[in-house]
Amino acid sequence: MNIWDFRSIYYKAFRRIGPFNLILRNEQNQINKALSLISVPTNGLALDIASGVGHSTFLMPVTKTFVSMDFSFGMVSIQKRSNKDLLCINANALRIPLKDNSVDYAQAIGLTEYFQNKELALFSLELSNVLKVSGKLLITFTPSSLFGIGRQLVGSKIYLRKKEEIISIFAKNGFKHIAHFSIYTQGVIVFEKS
Ligand SMILES: C[S@@+](CC[C@H](N)C(=O)[O-])C[C@H]1O[C@@H](n2cnc3c(N)ncnc32)[C@H](O)[C@@H]1O
Repeated sequence: MNIWDFRSIYYKAFRRIGPFNLILRNEQNQINKALSLISVPTNGLALDIASGVGHSTFLMPVTKTFVSMDFSFGMVSIQKRSNKDLLCINANALRIPLKDNSVDYAQAIGLTEYFQNKELALFSLELSNVLKVSGKLLITFTPSSLFGIGRQLVGSKIYLRKKEEIISIFAKNGFKHIAHFSIYTQGVIVFEKS
């Protein structure tokens, strides 16, 4: 059992408690702004990486096939229970079990802050393998704000970053930065695979 299996037990309830619900609503508004810039082919494949119990999966652009994945058995089983038609797999974001050049859109919401730079570089390489050319990617990160520092002090180990650091790591694997949005709790970046 990893820490996320344990968190899966109370994760849905936690998201409804104030002030977290307000913070999450604010973050979702940022994500929706970024999503409004992204179009995915109607017969495309969209992938939600580190989908948790599924809140982020419902945000994905409409397309033919949705796949969600998470490395926590607990999170995956809760998501599967609430959406039996969804293809939800148990897998590590650093080893995505999909064919190269098969994904039209990928997103990772609430994940990159748990990766050291070396892991983030590996993650971007993995994404550049599975995404098609011109495929779109949306990722969030935790900025070095007072809020981020507070999270570092009370929660699990997280890595705070500036958007420039993320853009430079992803650029090394062929990702072109298209747009970004930020608030004090979260940054959102949209990339296109070139
Ligand atoms: C903060 S939650 C975000 C969940 C969801 N994206 C959302 O917005 O509600 C982070 C999730 O990342 C997953 N996770 C962390 N490291 C992972 C990894 N290396 N591979 C796959 N999932 C991972 C955890 O199990 C957890 O479900």
